[in-house]
Amino acid sequence: MARVTPVFPNLVEPDGVDCSNKRRPMSVTTDDSRLQKASQNDGKPTVEFTGNSNDYVAYQFIDLLHTLQIPRSNGYDESCFIVMGQVKELLFQALHFELFNARHQIDQDQLPEAIRMLTRARAITEYIAKSWDVLSTITADGFNEYRDTLGQASGQLSFMYRHVEFILGNKSERLARAHSNIPHVWPKMKEALESPSLYDRILAYLARKGYAIPADRLQRDWTQPYEANDAVEAVWRAIYADAKTENPLFELGESLVSLDDAYSQYRWRHFVSVSRIIGHKPGTGGSAGVGWLRQVTELHFFPELWSLRTTL
Ligand code: HEM
Repeated sequence: MARVTPVFPNLVEPDGVDCSNKRRPMSVTTDDSRLQKASQNDGKPTVEFTGNSNDYVAYQFIDLLHTLQIPRSNGYDESCFIVMGQVKELLFQALHFELFNARHQIDQDQLPEAIRMLTRARAITEYIAKSWDVLSTITADGFNEYRDTLGQASGQLSFMYRHVEFILGNKSERLARAHSNIPHVWPKMKEALESPSLYDRILAYLARKGYAIPADRLQRDWTQPYEANDAVEAVWRAIYADAKTENPLFELGESLVSLDDAYSQYRWRHFVSVSRIIGHKPGTGGSAGVGWLRQVTELHFFPELWSLRTTL
């Protein structure tokens, strides 16, 4: 929306905000105390608080959160870009949390719990893909108004996104290195690069259950991306021979495919929206732009679960 000058409501006075990320003091309530409060209030919400905050603001650092959107231009669309970028970052965190815990549950042989987490991970990924409904309202000329002020800032520098890609098995030592100069981020990034992915741990689980997973899939250089393997496809084929809801391994396979499917749609929507906004210009992150984004739309995290379909 070029040539429209934004007016900023500035709803929070930043000087009054506690910028610490340490847990803030707040109360604890119980069923009894909530019942008592509701009867005292005659059923209406509480509006009297002491001190200079309330439990809602304290619990999720809401005032601090709302002061973290600081535009660098007078471009109207930049405000939407910043908020949606931050929303997506939080959703990447939520997605990573589910994948990290699903891997942990698999390691504990807790398959139903892992499947529930993968179901939520798929829902979050669909939600992330929907963010392009909003972002694609940014016009080419609107984006140009603030693009220069982004410097080299690009989503490819999102360490949270890189954690998602790594736990899903798309490893890259080169892309990890972009974070090696950030002392409070690098150790965990390095650990993620060098650790087995969710799928690597699922193959180990299948081996524990007696399936013939090749030894070179159970112990390998985890910094390398996973490569499709015929013997692994044969294992999935055996599992899919019993394609019933009561077969938890079949349900696991389908939940992985659903997640991969949603992720492909996210990548595709990114590619299409970016084509619409910057055409064939190079990215701010140093890549060829849409050429790079098009190339990543080809990726699948669980390749045998896709190749399998041809012979089912
Ligand atoms: C709306 C304007 C946007 C444009 C024009 C755009 C453009 C691009 C381009 C060209 C790339 C390739 C790397 C490079 O920068 O050279 C890229 C990568 C990426 N962008 Fe965006 N982007 C936009 C918004 C966003 C937002 C809001 C996010 C969310 C945080 C995001 C997340 C990413 C991620 C995670 C990558 C890395 C993809 C990968 O390596 O697989 N983008 N983007």
